[in-house]
Amino acid sequence: MAEKFDVVIIGAGAAGLMCAAEAGKRGRSVLVVDHGKKPGRKILISGGGRCNFTNYDVAANNYVCRNPHFVKSALSQYTQWDFIAMVAKHDIAYEERDHGQLFCEDSAKDIVKMLLAECDLPTVQQRYQIDVHHIEKTETGFRLMLNTEAVECQSLVIATGGLSMPKLGATPFGYQVAEQFGLNMVPTTAGLVPFTLHKEDKEAFAELSGIAVPVVVEAENGTTFRENLLFTHRGLSGPVILQISSYWLPGQKVTIDLLPDLDVAETLTAMRDKHPNQSLKNSLSRLLPKRLIEALIERGDLTDKPLKQLNSKELAALVSYFHQWAIAPNGTEGYRTAEVTLGGVDTDGLSSKTMEAKQVPGLYFVGEVMDVSGWLGGYNFQWAWSSGFVAGQHV
Ligand code: FDA
Repeated sequence: MAEKFDVVIIGAGAAGLMCAAEAGKRGRSVLVVDHGKKPGRKILISGGGRCNFTNYDVAANNYVCRNPHFVKSALSQYTQWDFIAMVAKHDIAYEERDHGQLFCEDSAKDIVKMLLAECDLPTVQQRYQIDVHHIEKTETGFRLMLNTEAVECQSLVIATGGLSMPKLGATPFGYQVAEQFGLNMVPTTAGLVPFTLHKEDKEAFAELSGIAVPVVVEAENGTTFRENLLFTHRGLSGPVILQISSYWLPGQKVTIDLLPDLDVAETLTAMRDKHPNQSLKNSLSRLLPKRLIEALIERGDLTDKPLKQLNSKELAALVSYFHQWAIAPNGTEGYRTAEVTLGGVDTDGLSSKTMEAKQVPGLYFVGEVMDVSGWLGGYNFQWAWSSGFVAGQHV
């Protein structure tokens, strides 16, 4: 005889736990299973151990999804303010950082503890180190093989996340379930991820590792971000690169304004008038890190000479160089270091109001497993909370 539950949720991460708590509060009998040893492993390492759990400013345009309207319903049914209220109810101290990002003051563990406390209901059971071997549709719902036990449920929620950070238990399980039930997939790639560089660029910039520069970066589709760029020994990173990586396609270049707050033409002309014998290298080293200027000279992008020798054509070339520094990444560091997975279960096959598969009654997808990826800044967790919440009202 199979054990029976109203709801089985596969994946005890952010979205799965939120969904479990909500369904449990409605009196539904819920079983949450995970193949890992403990819940919320990504929450625990997120935000440098402080979990950037949401953002004061959340809107549909903070998400990458083939259907840009899909996220609107869930984000309005369960907003950042709802999650902040839950955090406050559990007396978790939090702080605002740049761009409205909210982090725990103490530890990301507080968020996991809070979710587990919300799930602490007679209706909700959790089981860990469970492998799901088989799923089939029955007349009344679904039948699953969990390790060696059969379980039946009316509603099945897939909350297995994306592919990023395989060492934290990421698997393509959710995509396989989607395919099993005939849902379409949007091809997946790593998002919010550092860029790697072609050999020449890598060699030229590797020694700049650790240097950060505030820039504006633009993808070929016109999307821009203003934040810090960080040179690393592998390539380019920092928040601005992670953000733009979600809008970059292989073979494309990104254009970086290295001096976004400066009129380079005006500044260099003024410097030339005041210190005509000063070298270009020394002049530019007052505007940007000296090691960066040296690297650009060494690789032949810039020619060092006294400012007075700069003619207007060279000046114009410098202006466009610094405001439109174009670099074509070789690729990304991939899922190993990516914060999210772009693509996933195609939202066209899901109800935006409930997260239920349109063609498979009782089957739900929540969180990162679907083709919804947020910007850096707490947006991915907000999607996990919002999508988990709405599914929790309907399972
Ligand atoms: P999540 O990945 O959280 O959970 C999926 C669960 O399913 C896991 O517990 C996994 O073990 C389980 N699972 C997978 N396959 C299974 C299988 N076959 N059988 C059973 N169980 C299975 N976002 C943000 O908003 N703010 C932040 O600060 C950060 N920081 C951050 C840092 C790092 C290093 C990473 C990698 C990611 C972030 N993120 C983030 C992104 C955020 O962590 C992510 O978007 C959410 O955790 C997604 O929540 P889900 O519940 O969808 O998946």
